[in-house]
Amino acid sequence: MSTPNLRRLLRGVWSRRRHLLSYARGVLRGHPGARIGRGVRLSGPGRYRIERGATLTTGVRIWVGDGATFTLREGAKLGDRTIVNAATSVTIERGTRVSWDVQIMDTDFHWIENADGTRRPHKAAIVLGPRALIGARSMVLKGVTVGEGAVVGAGSIVRRSVAPGVIVSGNPAREVGQVTDWGSAPA
Ligand SMILES: CC(C)(COP(=O)(O)OP(=O)(O)OC[C@H]1O[C@@H](n2cnc3c(N)ncnc32)[C@H](O)[C@@H]1OP(=O)(O)O)[C@@H](O)C(=O)NCCC(=O)NCCS
Repeated sequence: MSTPNLRRLLRGVWSRRRHLLSYARGVLRGHPGARIGRGVRLSGPGRYRIERGATLTTGVRIWVGDGATFTLREGAKLGDRTIVNAATSVTIERGTRVSWDVQIMDTDFHWIENADGTRRPHKAAIVLGPRALIGARSMVLKGVTVGEGAVVGAGSIVRRSVAPGVIVSGNPAREVGQVTDWGSAPA
């Protein structure tokens, strides 16, 4: 190989190093084909199903409890510093985009007793998507299903399930509009 070609090859490899490193982390951590960013922490005794083509970006932290499952399907992506706690089941469907600093927890971690001595349920499975968009700094709590293609506005607290194709926002998140499609735009 001529020197200019070798230089070009090395430049190409260098400029794509982050991309390649994230794939390498996927392989090393037992999720080949998935991209795993720097400082990602996957803990707990539960089951991880991270499909090929899924992405966990910098600083994502996931804990999966005993007997629980975390599923991240192909083309789904968790943004920087997002935190997931799964005590039963958290599923993020194909093509769903979770922004940065989002919290997803299917458990309250504490039980709460009513005046009559009964306890409120404190954990329930979460399903996001497919092709849903979860806005930055929002929080998704136990038992929520976000329907296909739905959008959760930034900073929302989602306590109730969201129908497909709906935009919700606020605390508690309420329907504020409808959506037929969404995509990435230049910043
Ligand atoms: C969801 C979102 C995309 C909608 O944006 P938009 O189409 O411009 O819509 P608007 O912000 O104008 O809101 C639509 C309506 O919902 C209302 N609304 C928006 N946020 C609300 C809130 N937090 N509480 C109550 N109502 C709210 C608005 O008042 C508006 O109602 P109006 O038309 O009667 O005034 C936007 O609010 C958002 O969250 N953007 C950030 C997305 C993000 O996190 N990206 C990170 C990269 S993945």
